[in-house]
Amino acid sequence: MSTPFELAGRVAVVTGASAGIGEHSARRLAARGMHLVLGARRLDRLTALAEELSSAHDVRCQPVALDVTSSGSVQAFGDAADGFAGDAGVHLLVNNAGLARGVARIPTATLEDEAGWAEMLEVNVMGLLRVTRRFVGGMVERGGGHVIHMGSLAGIETYEGGSVYCATKASVRVISKALRLELLGSGVRVCCINPGLVETEFARVRLGTQEASDKVYEGMTPLTGDEVARAVEWVAGLPSFMNIEELDLQPVDQASAQKVHRVPRS
Ligand SMILES: NC(=O)c1ccc[n+]([C@@H]2O[C@H](COP(=O)([O-])OP(=O)(O)OC[C@H]3O[C@@H](n4cnc5c(N)ncnc54)[C@H](OP(=O)(O)O)[C@@H]3O)[C@@H](O)[C@H]2O)c1
Repeated sequence: MSTPFELAGRVAVVTGASAGIGEHSARRLAARGMHLVLGARRLDRLTALAEELSSAHDVRCQPVALDVTSSGSVQAFGDAADGFAGDAGVHLLVNNAGLARGVARIPTATLEDEAGWAEMLEVNVMGLLRVTRRFVGGMVERGGGHVIHMGSLAGIETYEGGSVYCATKASVRVISKALRLELLGSGVRVCCINPGLVETEFARVRLGTQEASDKVYEGMTPLTGDEVARAVEWVAGLPSFMNIEELDLQPVDQASAQKVHRVPRS
Protein backbone atom coordinates (compact mmCIF):
# COMPACT_ATOMS: atom_id res chain seq x y z
CA MET A 1 0.00 0.00 0.00
CA SER A 2 1.35 3.48 -0.85
CA THR A 3 1.97 5.92 1.96
CA PRO A 4 -0.18 9.04 2.23
CA PHE A 5 1.68 12.34 2.06
CA GLU A 6 2.70 13.56 5.51
CA LEU A 7 1.31 17.06 5.92
CA ALA A 8 2.20 17.57 9.59
CA GLY A 9 5.07 19.97 10.16
CA ARG A 10 4.99 21.38 6.62
CA VAL A 11 3.98 24.92 5.71
CA ALA A 12 0.81 25.82 3.80
CA VAL A 13 -0.17 29.23 2.47
CA VAL A 14 -3.90 29.90 2.17
CA THR A 15 -5.20 32.98 0.36
CA GLY A 16 -8.71 34.24 1.06
CA ALA A 17 -8.44 32.72 4.54
CA SER A 18 -10.60 35.36 6.23
CA ALA A 19 -13.88 33.64 5.22
CA GLY A 20 -15.58 30.70 3.59
CA ILE A 21 -13.60 28.00 1.80
CA GLY A 22 -10.22 29.52 2.65
CA GLU A 23 -10.99 29.80 6.36
CA HIS A 24 -12.19 26.19 6.45
CA SER A 25 -9.18 24.98 4.48
CA ALA A 26 -6.97 26.61 7.10
CA ARG A 27 -8.95 24.87 9.85
CA ARG A 28 -8.59 21.43 8.25
CA LEU A 29 -4.91 21.84 7.39
CA ALA A 30 -4.10 23.02 10.92
CA ALA A 31 -5.91 19.98 12.29
CA ARG A 32 -3.53 17.89 10.14
CA GLY A 33 -0.58 19.61 11.82
CA MET A 34 0.36 22.04 9.06
CA HIS A 35 1.89 25.42 9.91
CA LEU A 36 0.00 28.18 8.15
CA VAL A 37 0.44 31.54 6.52
CA LEU A 38 -2.98 33.12 6.15
CA GLY A 39 -3.65 35.90 3.63
CA ALA A 40 -6.59 38.24 2.93
CA ARG A 41 -7.37 41.94 3.29
CA ARG A 42 -9.25 41.62 6.61
CA LEU A 43 -6.30 41.20 8.94
CA ASP A 44 -8.46 41.28 12.10
CA ARG A 45 -10.21 38.08 11.03
CA LEU A 46 -6.95 36.40 10.05
CA THR A 47 -5.39 37.30 13.39
CA ALA A 48 -8.31 35.82 15.34
CA LEU A 49 -8.21 32.63 13.24
CA ALA A 50 -4.43 32.29 13.58
CA GLU A 51 -4.66 32.63 17.37
CA GLU A 52 -7.46 30.07 17.54
CA LEU A 53 -5.73 27.50 15.33
CA SER A 54 -2.28 27.83 16.84
CA SER A 55 -3.59 27.22 20.34
CA ALA A 56 -5.97 24.42 19.31
CA HIS A 57 -3.50 22.39 17.22
CA ASP A 58 0.00 23.20 18.41
CA VAL A 59 0.94 24.65 15.03
CA ARG A 60 2.40 28.02 14.05
CA CYS A 61 0.10 30.41 12.19
CA GLN A 62 1.04 33.74 10.69
CA PRO A 63 -1.65 36.19 9.57
CA VAL A 64 -0.44 38.51 6.80
CA ALA A 65 -2.47 41.27 5.11
CA LEU A 66 -2.78 40.51 1.41
CA ASP A 67 -4.47 42.26 -1.48
CA VAL A 68 -3.94 40.10 -4.55
CA THR A 69 -4.69 43.05 -6.85
CA SER A 70 -1.41 44.67 -5.76
CA SER A 71 1.91 43.26 -6.97
CA GLY A 72 3.64 44.93 -4.02
CA SER A 73 1.26 43.33 -1.53
CA VAL A 74 1.75 39.88 -3.09
CA GLN A 75 5.51 40.37 -3.04
CA ALA A 76 5.49 41.37 0.66
CA PHE A 77 3.17 38.46 1.45
CA GLY A 78 5.54 36.07 -0.32
CA ASP A 79 8.52 37.46 1.59
CA ALA A 80 6.67 37.06 4.90
CA ALA A 81 5.71 33.47 4.02
CA ASP A 82 9.24 32.55 2.96
CA GLY A 83 10.58 34.02 6.21
CA PHE A 84 8.02 32.05 8.20
CA ALA A 85 8.77 28.78 6.37
CA GLY A 86 12.57 29.06 6.63
CA ASP A 87 14.77 26.54 4.81
CA ALA A 88 11.97 23.98 4.39
CA GLY A 89 10.03 26.48 2.30
CA VAL A 90 6.32 26.65 1.56
CA HIS A 91 5.05 23.19 0.61
CA LEU A 92 1.39 23.88 -0.20
CA LEU A 93 -0.30 26.88 -1.78
CA VAL A 94 -4.09 27.01 -1.59
CA ASN A 95 -4.72 29.86 -4.02
CA ASN A 96 -8.34 30.48 -3.15
CA ALA A 97 -8.96 34.26 -2.89
CA GLY A 98 -11.65 35.27 -5.33
CA LEU A 99 -15.02 36.87 -5.83
CA ALA A 100 -17.93 37.56 -8.15
CA ARG A 101 -19.41 41.04 -8.54
CA GLY A 102 -22.94 41.32 -9.86
CA VAL A 103 -24.97 39.40 -12.43
CA ALA A 104 -24.97 41.94 -15.26
CA ARG A 105 -25.76 40.72 -18.75
CA ILE A 106 -23.52 42.17 -21.46
CA PRO A 107 -26.26 43.83 -23.59
CA THR A 108 -27.66 45.81 -20.65
CA ALA A 109 -24.55 46.26 -18.50
CA THR A 110 -23.66 49.72 -17.16
CA LEU A 111 -20.32 51.42 -16.59
CA GLU A 112 -20.59 50.39 -12.93
CA ASP A 113 -20.96 46.76 -14.04
CA GLU A 114 -17.87 47.20 -16.17
CA ALA A 115 -15.94 48.14 -13.01
CA GLY A 116 -17.16 44.90 -11.43
CA TRP A 117 -15.92 42.95 -14.45
CA ALA A 118 -12.50 44.56 -14.13
CA GLU A 119 -12.39 43.71 -10.43
CA MET A 120 -13.24 40.04 -11.06
CA LEU A 121 -10.59 39.75 -13.77
CA GLU A 122 -8.04 41.50 -11.57
CA VAL A 123 -8.69 39.39 -8.44
CA ASN A 124 -9.56 35.99 -9.91
CA VAL A 125 -7.12 35.89 -12.81
CA MET A 126 -4.27 38.37 -12.29
CA GLY A 127 -4.37 37.95 -8.50
CA LEU A 128 -4.20 34.18 -8.76
CA LEU A 129 -1.35 34.42 -11.27
CA ARG A 130 0.60 36.88 -9.10
CA VAL A 131 0.37 34.62 -6.05
CA THR A 132 1.17 31.39 -7.89
CA ARG A 133 4.12 32.98 -9.68
CA ARG A 134 5.48 34.22 -6.34
CA PHE A 135 5.50 30.75 -4.75
CA VAL A 136 5.98 28.22 -7.51
CA GLY A 137 9.60 29.13 -8.33
CA GLY A 138 10.69 28.17 -4.81
CA MET A 139 8.82 24.87 -5.08
CA VAL A 140 10.65 24.05 -8.31
CA GLU A 141 14.01 24.88 -6.69
CA ARG A 142 13.19 22.55 -3.80
CA GLY A 143 12.04 19.78 -6.15
CA GLY A 144 8.51 19.54 -4.82
CA GLY A 145 5.40 21.32 -3.65
CA HIS A 146 1.69 21.53 -4.34
CA VAL A 147 -0.48 24.25 -5.86
CA ILE A 148 -4.24 24.04 -5.41
CA HIS A 149 -6.25 26.60 -7.35
CA MET A 150 -9.88 27.33 -6.52
CA GLY A 151 -11.80 27.16 -9.78
CA SER A 152 -15.56 26.71 -10.05
CA LEU A 153 -18.35 24.91 -11.84
CA ALA A 154 -18.71 28.36 -13.46
CA GLY A 155 -15.42 27.67 -15.22
CA ILE A 156 -16.93 24.61 -16.87
CA GLU A 157 -20.42 25.90 -17.72
CA THR A 158 -21.66 29.38 -18.52
CA TYR A 159 -24.92 31.09 -17.61
CA GLU A 160 -26.65 34.38 -18.37
CA GLY A 161 -25.31 37.14 -16.17
CA GLY A 162 -22.18 35.16 -15.45
CA SER A 163 -20.08 35.82 -18.56
CA VAL A 164 -17.15 37.48 -16.82
CA TYR A 165 -17.15 35.43 -13.62
CA CYS A 166 -17.34 32.28 -15.77
CA ALA A 167 -14.51 33.61 -17.93
CA THR A 168 -12.32 34.17 -14.87
CA LYS A 169 -12.93 30.65 -13.58
CA ALA A 170 -12.41 29.10 -17.03
CA SER A 171 -9.11 30.99 -16.96
CA VAL A 172 -8.23 29.43 -13.61
CA ARG A 173 -8.77 25.97 -15.11
CA VAL A 174 -6.73 26.75 -18.22
CA ILE A 175 -3.94 28.37 -16.20
CA SER A 176 -3.85 25.29 -13.95
CA LYS A 177 -3.53 22.98 -16.95
CA ALA A 178 -0.77 25.06 -18.56
CA LEU A 179 1.06 25.26 -15.22
CA ARG A 180 0.84 21.50 -14.86
CA LEU A 181 2.51 21.14 -18.27
CA GLU A 182 5.14 23.73 -17.39
CA LEU A 183 5.93 21.91 -14.13
CA LEU A 184 6.16 18.42 -15.54
CA GLY A 185 9.33 16.83 -14.20
CA SER A 186 9.67 19.30 -11.32
CA GLY A 187 7.85 17.20 -8.73
CA VAL A 188 5.38 20.06 -8.12
CA ARG A 189 1.72 19.08 -8.20
CA VAL A 190 -1.13 21.24 -9.54
CA CYS A 191 -4.84 20.82 -8.92
CA CYS A 192 -7.89 22.89 -9.79
CA ILE A 193 -10.92 22.34 -7.55
CA ASN A 194 -14.27 23.26 -9.12
CA PRO A 195 -17.11 23.55 -6.62
CA GLY A 196 -20.75 24.21 -7.42
CA LEU A 197 -22.91 26.20 -4.98
CA VAL A 198 -21.20 26.71 -1.62
CA GLU A 199 -22.84 28.77 1.11
CA THR A 200 -20.20 31.27 2.22
CA GLU A 201 -19.99 35.08 2.01
CA PHE A 202 -19.60 34.70 -1.75
CA ALA A 203 -23.23 35.36 -2.80
CA ARG A 204 -23.51 38.33 -0.41
CA VAL A 205 -20.39 39.89 -1.94
CA ARG A 206 -21.76 39.20 -5.40
CA LEU A 207 -25.34 40.38 -4.91
CA GLY A 208 -24.86 43.01 -2.21
CA THR A 209 -27.36 41.91 0.47
CA GLN A 210 -27.87 38.98 2.80
CA GLU A 211 -31.47 38.69 1.60
CA ALA A 212 -30.39 38.21 -2.02
CA SER A 213 -27.75 35.75 -0.90
CA ASP A 214 -30.27 33.68 1.07
CA LYS A 215 -32.41 33.34 -2.07
CA VAL A 216 -29.53 31.65 -3.91
CA TYR A 217 -29.68 28.72 -1.50
CA GLU A 218 -33.44 28.72 -0.89
CA GLY A 219 -35.05 25.28 -0.81
CA MET A 220 -31.82 23.39 -1.56
CA THR A 221 -28.83 22.13 0.37
CA PRO A 222 -25.61 23.80 -0.81
CA LEU A 223 -22.08 22.65 -0.08
CA THR A 224 -20.39 24.23 2.92
CA GLY A 225 -16.95 25.78 3.05
CA ASP A 226 -15.90 22.84 5.19
CA GLU A 227 -16.88 20.28 2.55
CA VAL A 228 -14.74 22.01 -0.05
CA ALA A 229 -11.97 22.22 2.54
CA ARG A 230 -12.31 18.46 2.99
CA ALA A 231 -11.51 18.12 -0.74
CA VAL A 232 -8.48 20.43 -0.34
CA GLU A 233 -7.25 18.31 2.57
CA TRP A 234 -7.77 15.07 0.62
CA VAL A 235 -5.95 16.31 -2.48
CA ALA A 236 -3.06 17.64 -0.39
CA GLY A 237 -2.67 14.38 1.54
CA LEU A 238 -2.40 12.00 -1.43
CA PRO A 239 0.89 10.23 -2.17
CA SER A 240 3.44 12.56 -3.75
CA PHE A 241 3.50 10.63 -7.06
CA MET A 242 -0.23 11.22 -7.60
CA ASN A 243 -1.72 14.37 -9.12
CA ILE A 244 -5.43 15.18 -9.06
CA GLU A 245 -5.65 17.56 -11.98
CA GLU A 246 -9.26 18.68 -11.53
CA LEU A 247 -11.85 17.90 -8.93
CA ASP A 248 -15.49 18.82 -9.56
CA LEU A 249 -17.92 18.77 -6.67
CA GLN A 250 -21.51 19.92 -6.45
CA PRO A 251 -24.35 19.61 -4.02
CA VAL A 252 -26.64 16.65 -4.79
CA ASP A 253 -29.32 19.30 -5.42
CA GLN A 254 -27.30 20.89 -8.25
CA ALA A 255 -26.84 19.01 -11.54
CA SER A 256 -25.50 21.92 -13.62
CA ALA A 257 -24.74 25.61 -13.10
CA GLN A 258 -28.41 26.58 -13.29
CA LYS A 259 -30.21 23.26 -12.85
CA VAL A 260 -30.97 23.24 -9.13
CA HIS A 261 -33.56 21.14 -7.36
CA ARG A 262 -35.47 23.25 -4.85
CA VAL A 263 -38.19 22.25 -2.44
CA PRO A 264 -40.73 25.10 -2.19
CA ARG A 265 -41.36 26.38 1.32
CA SER A 266 -44.70 25.07 2.65
N1 LIG B 1 -19.22 30.06 -2.80
C1 LIG B 1 -19.38 29.46 -3.97
O1 LIG B 1 -20.50 29.11 -4.37
C2 LIG B 1 -18.15 29.17 -4.82
C3 LIG B 1 -18.28 28.20 -5.82
C4 LIG B 1 -17.19 27.92 -6.62
C5 LIG B 1 -15.99 28.56 -6.42
N2 LIG B 1 -15.89 29.51 -5.45
C6 LIG B 1 -14.58 30.18 -5.30
O2 LIG B 1 -14.06 29.87 -4.03
C7 LIG B 1 -13.17 30.89 -3.61
C8 LIG B 1 -13.49 31.31 -2.18
O3 LIG B 1 -14.81 31.85 -2.17
P1 LIG B 1 -15.79 31.69 -0.93
O4 LIG B 1 -17.01 31.02 -1.43
O5 LIG B 1 -15.09 31.15 0.25
O6 LIG B 1 -16.17 33.24 -0.73
P2 LIG B 1 -15.99 34.24 0.51
O7 LIG B 1 -16.57 33.63 1.74
O8 LIG B 1 -16.53 35.54 0.04
O9 LIG B 1 -14.40 34.34 0.67
C9 LIG B 1 -13.63 34.99 -0.31
C10 LIG B 1 -12.23 35.20 0.23
O10 LIG B 1 -11.45 35.86 -0.79
C11 LIG B 1 -10.77 36.95 -0.20
N3 LIG B 1 -10.48 38.01 -1.15
C12 LIG B 1 -11.36 38.66 -1.96
N4 LIG B 1 -10.73 39.64 -2.64
C13 LIG B 1 -9.42 39.61 -2.24
C14 LIG B 1 -8.27 40.38 -2.56
N5 LIG B 1 -8.32 41.41 -3.42
N6 LIG B 1 -7.09 40.06 -1.96
C15 LIG B 1 -7.04 39.04 -1.08
N7 LIG B 1 -8.08 38.28 -0.72
C16 LIG B 1 -9.27 38.57 -1.31
C17 LIG B 1 -11.70 37.43 0.91
O11 LIG B 1 -10.94 38.09 1.92
P3 LIG B 1 -10.96 39.67 2.23
O12 LIG B 1 -12.29 40.20 1.81
O13 LIG B 1 -10.71 39.73 3.71
O14 LIG B 1 -9.82 40.19 1.43
C18 LIG B 1 -12.21 36.09 1.45
O15 LIG B 1 -11.32 35.58 2.39
C19 LIG B 1 -13.30 32.02 -4.65
O16 LIG B 1 -12.23 31.93 -5.56
C20 LIG B 1 -14.62 31.70 -5.34
O17 LIG B 1 -14.65 32.19 -6.66
C21 LIG B 1 -16.94 29.82 -4.64
